[in-house]
Amino acid sequence: MSKVLIIGAGGVSQVVVHKCAQIPEVFKDIVLASRNEEKCKKIASQLNRPITTAQVDAENVPQLVALIKKHKPDMLINVALPYQDLTIMDACLETGINYLDTANYEPKDEAKFCYKWQWDYIDKFKEKGIMALLGSGFDPGVTNVYTAYALKHHFDEIHELDIIDCNAGSHGQPFATNFNPEINIREVSARGKYYVNGEWKETDPLSVNKIYDFPEGIGPMKIYLMYHEELESLVKHIPTIKRARFWMTFSDNYLNHLKVLENVGMTRIDPVIYNGQEIIPLQFLKALLPDPASLGPLTKGRTCIGCLIKGIKERKEVEYFVYNICDHEAAYKEVQSQAISYTTGVPAMIGAKMMLTGKWKGNGVFNMEQFDPDPFMDDLNKYGLPWKEIFITT
Ligand SMILES: NC(=O)c1ccc[n+]([C@@H]2O[C@H](COP(=O)([O-])OP(=O)(O)OC[C@H]3O[C@@H](n4cnc5c(N)ncnc54)[C@H](OP(=O)(O)O)[C@@H]3O)[C@@H](O)[C@H]2O)c1
Repeated sequence: MSKVLIIGAGGVSQVVVHKCAQIPEVFKDIVLASRNEEKCKKIASQLNRPITTAQVDAENVPQLVALIKKHKPDMLINVALPYQDLTIMDACLETGINYLDTANYEPKDEAKFCYKWQWDYIDKFKEKGIMALLGSGFDPGVTNVYTAYALKHHFDEIHELDIIDCNAGSHGQPFATNFNPEINIREVSARGKYYVNGEWKETDPLSVNKIYDFPEGIGPMKIYLMYHEELESLVKHIPTIKRARFWMTFSDNYLNHLKVLENVGMTRIDPVIYNGQEIIPLQFLKALLPDPASLGPLTKGRTCIGCLIKGIKERKEVEYFVYNICDHEAAYKEVQSQAISYTTGVPAMIGAKMMLTGKWKGNGVFNMEQFDPDPFMDDLNKYGLPWKEIFITT
């Protein structure tokens, strides 16, 4: 029975807090802290058990250290923004507590996804005798665990990996993002990148697409090649992979709006002077767009995220798809969030549960595929993200 400190009170946090609160035998005490304590109190008011709330600026290490020293949690779950990863890791190092996040560090002034900054903490975490688990969301997160599970049970060698993320749902808004608009638009408007035969190849943003036929009645949808952070850790930890790519669906409506916003400069992340004041256009745009949390009651339909894997088992070629389907309305009914936050928040809770129960342990900084996937896969079935496998025969 443990105490957990959760930082951030946005869409993903809403799900993490609800899910942790559902398992008091693991998460005995919950402290929820964010930049704006009112948002923490709003989440707390939806629960049927009490939690503690607090205010903290997660970019201020002394404030974080004071908060950790006051509450003495067993671990910290970071569901604030990627910009705060390193300051929160610094505070964990100073206080000697374990760390988990769902997205890799990004500098504010450059839309760059790269594990180097956090992997640079490996020796410091080892020396301190503490653990950091990186990317415990869905993608990254479950997609890493799916790949590790496939390797453990169905392949001797994995050669090709395609991670495919489909949102077949709709919120009925002219333009909105399903998670933090600033982080989402930075990710989507970045250059595409994939791994082939030991090299990274770049593509123009969203310039490569194809049709993929999704299971369970979702049917054919256009998927676009993008870069995603789990590709970097998976090709490092599973070196037999010869090709690794990440794909996502977007509606034509979303892409048309994004193109116009890009063309007029609204997605820029460099400062511009407006009325004598510096503003970042993308941050201003975020203030105008619907809050992703407000989309919860409006979103209908399903998501399907999975890994399409090719390789060999006992010298025979195997092609395999493992996936989850999540229903936006069912997620909202359970935790008052749509499926994008749900599919991220549930794995964050499970990752924390793995660490608190000692099923996953180690000193240093780890990615999800470095641990035994079986207990995590069991918990996905148990806590709301059941998965299915298809063996593809040609
Ligand atoms: N792995 C995956 O599958 C996956 C998928 C989706 C999202 N994510 C990640 O999940 C994280 C949360 O996403 P989200 O959609 O929940 O974002 P969000 O709704 O914008 O929530 C972020 C929260 O962090 C708080 N915050 C921001 N700066 C802070 C600071 N300096 N100090 C303290 N709190 C601060 C925000 O406070 P305010 O409320 O005051 O703004 C907000 O409550 C992000 O890192 C995102 O990249 C991962």
